[in-house]
Amino acid sequence: MTTNIGVLVSGSGSNLQSIIDHVESGYLKDVKLSVVISDKRDAYALERAKIHGIDAVFIDPRSHVSKMDFEKKIIETLQLYTVDLVLLAGYMRILGSEVIQTYKDRIMNIHPALLPSFKGLHGPRQALEYGVKVAGCTVHFVDEGMDSGPIIIQSSVPVKDDDTENTLASRILEQEHRIFPEAIKLFTEGKLKVDGRIVLRRDK
Ligand code: GRF
Repeated sequence: MTTNIGVLVSGSGSNLQSIIDHVESGYLKDVKLSVVISDKRDAYALERAKIHGIDAVFIDPRSHVSKMDFEKKIIETLQLYTVDLVLLAGYMRILGSEVIQTYKDRIMNIHPALLPSFKGLHGPRQALEYGVKVAGCTVHFVDEGMDSGPIIIQSSVPVKDDDTENTLASRILEQEHRIFPEAIKLFTEGKLKVDGRIVLRRDK
């Protein structure tokens, strides 16, 4: 059975690109990238979607009277495309409970830090400032908190003495581009089981 995927983005979309590439290479099978939704009109991720023939939709938060109204439009759009799995690929807003409940255990986020450390907007910067020697990224299911849902996959990278926020972020990004498709593959193959906070990998 095909898994219809909806991707929420706000920015450049390099993670979206990696997912597109993994679909096109055949690594991700029985998957359709059905729609890409952005809350930013000029997000380059929308262009990436169009180039690859994926419907790209801008939903303007400012033309909605409330966050709830804006998110209703997101849900409507996802339902229009009969989306089964929602990916947050650089989507820079916290989702409200209606979206989360509608897609319970079916929303994944990629975060540029080894959670539960360094939640929020600046994972690599916080890691550098804290002085950790190992940094990394996390794919997790989304719950009502910020970067707090059950962890699916993590990958670590070394922090080097001469790292800047940019060099560390790009080392982490390489790993994001690897583990996000891996998590999607596990999901679409029915190999993930969520038990409270714990995500178990099951081989069918
Ligand atoms: C990534 O670092 C991701 O972890 C974070 O936002 C960034 C998005 O980058 N959530 P891109 O738009 O996929 O290039």
